[in-house]
Amino acid sequence: MKGKAVITHTEGESNRSAARRDWAARHSDAATQRLLSRDSDVFLHQSLSSPCVSTIVRAEGIWIEDTAGRRYMDFHGNSVHHIGYGHPRLIAAIKAQLDDLSFAPRRFTNEIAVELAETLAEIAPGDLGKVLFTTGGSDANEVALKIARAATGRFKTLSFWDAFHGAGFGAASVGGEATFRSHVAGPLLPGAEHVAPFNCYHCAYGHSGPEHCALACAKMVDYVLEREGDVAALIAEPMRAVPVVPPPGFWKAVRDACDRRGTLLILDEIPTGLGKTGRMYAFEHDGVVPDIVTMGKALGGGILPIAAVVARRDLDVCGDFAIGHYTHEKNPVTARAALTTIAIIRDEGLVERSAELGAHALDRLASLAAQSPFVGDIRGRGLMFGVEIVEDKAGRIPSRDRAERIYYRCLEAGLSFKISAGSVLTLSPPLTIAKADLDRALTIVETAILAETP
Ligand SMILES: Cc1ncc(COP(=O)(O)O)c(C=O)c1O
Repeated sequence: MKGKAVITHTEGESNRSAARRDWAARHSDAATQRLLSRDSDVFLHQSLSSPCVSTIVRAEGIWIEDTAGRRYMDFHGNSVHHIGYGHPRLIAAIKAQLDDLSFAPRRFTNEIAVELAETLAEIAPGDLGKVLFTTGGSDANEVALKIARAATGRFKTLSFWDAFHGAGFGAASVGGEATFRSHVAGPLLPGAEHVAPFNCYHCAYGHSGPEHCALACAKMVDYVLEREGDVAALIAEPMRAVPVVPPPGFWKAVRDACDRRGTLLILDEIPTGLGKTGRMYAFEHDGVVPDIVTMGKALGGGILPIAAVVARRDLDVCGDFAIGHYTHEKNPVTARAALTTIAIIRDEGLVERSAELGAHALDRLASLAAQSPFVGDIRGRGLMFGVEIVEDKAGRIPSRDRAERIYYRCLEAGLSFKISAGSVLTLSPPLTIAKADLDRALTIVETAILAETP
């Protein structure tokens, strides 16, 4: 390939790493090897996907099982498995829906799609009440951007470096990770401005913590919106799934800045929505309401792909344009999956459960931080939390090799998760997890980290 670039991956445990190849070689029986090799032969290779680390034959509750019969608690699940894999109530509802009405061609609406839109409007705060469905989250964000263009008559956007909003050209334009926006992805949308994000542990403005910064990151948002003068929308994740938690007051300050500058606030709740952070929406922790919210991932119950845009009612301004003309826009089966998923989350009290278990996990990890010189930071909300592995606490320098060793020890012990931002053990279990299983997983993480201590 011409002009081969050096690419810094924001996720650790890359599929090009020697450790992954080594792990796959040591743990793969002949059947696994054959499937991995067929996968590698037939799929286009891309970073963070094929070639894969392992194979899977079963996904049930919090568990995934590989071809060799090894079982792992899945603390990643692409953020789709809030209700656990294969929830029996969801499977039954999807089966019944298949028998009842399996598709709706465009121009014909149906009871299930309407009921889902009404339910999303009901659970959303403020005046968020107009809905459009897409198949994936990237598309939902692009629909939101088009609404903002139509509503404001402007085209520019402001978003954050390091953000992720999807892989489409529009979503990648507002994203802030080189993996998705640089090299083969460009040229991207014009007018997509970026600023440094909130990230108190690695503050781009050089502050050591939120007590010292007077919200420099939020002030920069205001500065750019004012200087640019005609930004249609600010799009952001209310809390990054990496995870990175906003400092107190950040979103209120940004909401005010958007209001002062006539800029719409779009919050991307694709991984965080539906209770993952201990509130139905992550933005509820910060006392703001966006103009548009996007959701996806867990909305399909970990089985079917469906995403949604929920906009303020007065932003219904695109009646003369096609802003999201998707084939499966009102698919009754995906809509049924979403409706049932929301019902399960409500009936089983999963939002409250996430808050409670998440607080317990953070408590346990805080005592681990005191014992290990390599735990730089513990952060998260609800059942979306992480442990940042560093060379030493004072320098806050990410330790990729150490994080990768810890990751493979955990995998060996039956716990699967993702490393983010090079060295953050990113732990995101289903909200249905039993406390005993959560404790078991935390013990695996603690043991794997403490094995690093000389
Ligand atoms: C914050 C955020 N936005 C958007 C997306 C894109 O969603 P999808 O993969 O369904 O297009 C993701 C997926 O990881 C995400 O985490």
